[in-house]
Amino acid sequence: MIFKQLFDNKSSTYTYIISSGKGREALIIDPVIENINEYLKTLKELDLKLVKVIDTHIHADHISALNELSKQTSCSKIMGEHSTSEVIDIKVKDNEKIKIENIELVSMYTPGHTDCSYSFLMKDKIFTGDTLLINGTGRTDFQNGNPVDQYHSLFDRILKLPDETFIYPAHDYKGNKTSTIGKQKKTNPRLQVKSAEEYAEIMNNLNLDNPKMMDIAVPANKKGLTYNDFIKLTK
Ligand code: FE2
Repeated sequence: MIFKQLFDNKSSTYTYIISSGKGREALIIDPVIENINEYLKTLKELDLKLVKVIDTHIHADHISALNELSKQTSCSKIMGEHSTSEVIDIKVKDNEKIKIENIELVSMYTPGHTDCSYSFLMKDKIFTGDTLLINGTGRTDFQNGNPVDQYHSLFDRILKLPDETFIYPAHDYKGNKTSTIGKQKKTNPRLQVKSAEEYAEIMNNLNLDNPKMMDIAVPANKKGLTYNDFIKLTK
């Protein structure tokens, strides 16, 4: 099994390259456009054929490499059915299977951070996007975010998975790479609440600044930029 967790320093995004082995089909989750050459190099070195690329949600803090990866490799672009991206080939519903050679992911609709946020379960690993972070949760104050929805996505879906399940988030700002459901239930400060109302009270009082890239990244990710579009946009 090939499992690479790559980190984008600028946006603190984690990108995942997954395959059952050298020379086989691969998929990428949450790629960042600035790092496109690193992904293509890794795929080439491992003789992988990229067949699918997934964004967990429309990102506000970086521009996705989903469209450019598809342009260069002809891989299918996948998001959840609630995505407003104009370039998605396959929009999955809740509890749908996404398959590549010897690998299967199951989609989970987990709104709250945004109304298009999905998580993806791969056996004992879950890719949580910005729904569940390590020792945190994704903010809920823009892109139709909703703390009550997020509470239910967390407590009724993600945290119902076995305690041993490994969590792989879309971001980390403190160098954490993974954790487990069991550990997060005990130690994640956002999860120590008794009700959706208590959770919403915390989330509605975070008073965070908007991400620097937000005004550029959200429309760009809806439109689906190529690398050339990205260079022109950020010149
Ligand atoms: Fe996000």
